[in-house]
Amino acid sequence: MTNKRDGFQSRIGFVLAAAGAAVGLGNIWGFPTQAANHGGGAFLLVYFIVIFALALPALFTELYLGYAAQANPVQALKRAWQPKAAKIGAGAGYIGLAGAIVMLSFYSIVAGWMLAHALAPLCEMLGMDDAAAFLSGDSLARNLIFTPLMLVLTASIILKGVKSGIEAWSRRLMPLLLVLLVGLIFYIGSLPGAGEGFSNYLQPDFTKVWNPDLIIAAMGQAFFSLSLGVGCMMIYGSYLKPGANIGKLTLSVAALDTSVAFLAGLLIVPAIFVASHNGVEVFQNGKLIGEGQLIFAVLPQLFNTMGSMGLVIALAFFVLMSIASLTSTISSTEIPVAFLVENHGIGRKAATWLVSAVVMLASLTIVFNFDWLFGLVIQVFTQYQLPLMGLFYFLTLGWVWRRGNQLAQSDKMSIVALRWYIRLVCPVLMTAVFINVALK
Ligand code: ALA
Repeated sequence: MTNKRDGFQSRIGFVLAAAGAAVGLGNIWGFPTQAANHGGGAFLLVYFIVIFALALPALFTELYLGYAAQANPVQALKRAWQPKAAKIGAGAGYIGLAGAIVMLSFYSIVAGWMLAHALAPLCEMLGMDDAAAFLSGDSLARNLIFTPLMLVLTASIILKGVKSGIEAWSRRLMPLLLVLLVGLIFYIGSLPGAGEGFSNYLQPDFTKVWNPDLIIAAMGQAFFSLSLGVGCMMIYGSYLKPGANIGKLTLSVAALDTSVAFLAGLLIVPAIFVASHNGVEVFQNGKLIGEGQLIFAVLPQLFNTMGSMGLVIALAFFVLMSIASLTSTISSTEIPVAFLVENHGIGRKAATWLVSAVVMLASLTIVFNFDWLFGLVIQVFTQYQLPLMGLFYFLTLGWVWRRGNQLAQSDKMSIVALRWYIRLVCPVLMTAVFINVALK
């Protein structure tokens, strides 16, 4: 091993990249939709509790496992399980790797829709109405063009490596994402109808707080949002330089991710009420129409009611969504790429294209079997794979890994408390979530 491993050059570069991995469709699409459907502020309250009780320790666990190993998740978990059962560790690493590919296969399709929707207002501004209609309408042809386009965009960043690709682009894209998000909140917030949205979002309906569906939804959302359970955070943790303060970094990344989810709610929930005020039908039997289709069904109709300003807002909104998607797809792509480079000696360029080709095949399988496969893959991935892997990581850090694990060796009070929290409380909570999901 003479080659120096690539890595993040600065703390802020790491935080922006990891927050970029975390901030994605889950925050800007998933979180507000879940909040609007689960009692507004009640969901917000439960989500914050879940973030503190479970997602923060899970994020710490993944970052720490990767940081200590300075290697990809297969290697990191294999070493943590040595000498007892290295194969079990490596096996879990492979499951995470497969999960990253599965996640990319459906995520890239939706990310492609975002990209197409971002180009549609540009075409309309240029008077290319047919092209705009093609870009904003659902079709097989659009999927066959924009899913590969998203994969190529992702690959072009991954090819450049961690410092010059992932870190450099996260430093450019994340501030732009925040500016767009805040700008849109101010604009949408100033429109008639938005006030009702703000109060719906911010006032908790406490009768709903104990609803098991709401708790399960909040937990799944928190795990997906922080990109936990597939090794994204483990691989990013492995690119940190020695001496990094994992506790502080965990807090920074989770704070940024949760703030963006909260801000996205301040944009989307009022936007739904503005749309309703403008005559767009948004609720049916107290639930949002189309739930998952919200962004593609309701928001474009809202933008249409705003005249030419609507084109600018649509452009800003879908550029925001495309950026959020891209910073998430690069983190998942990095996991199998790093594995191929480090474990099989394949060059980064060949590894990147190989992974992109495999993801493309998986995406095409979903595209051609969309009606029954798309929802199923997302459900199995978020409700089963993520919690199970989270549980495995807790058990690995808490019970299995001894040599080189400073957490297991320290007798400092705060570390001992953290160790026992990860050993006992987290696995019990995770098991409860999993049983709940399985019994549902
Ligand atoms: N964490 C990413 C998201 O929230 C996957 O979309």
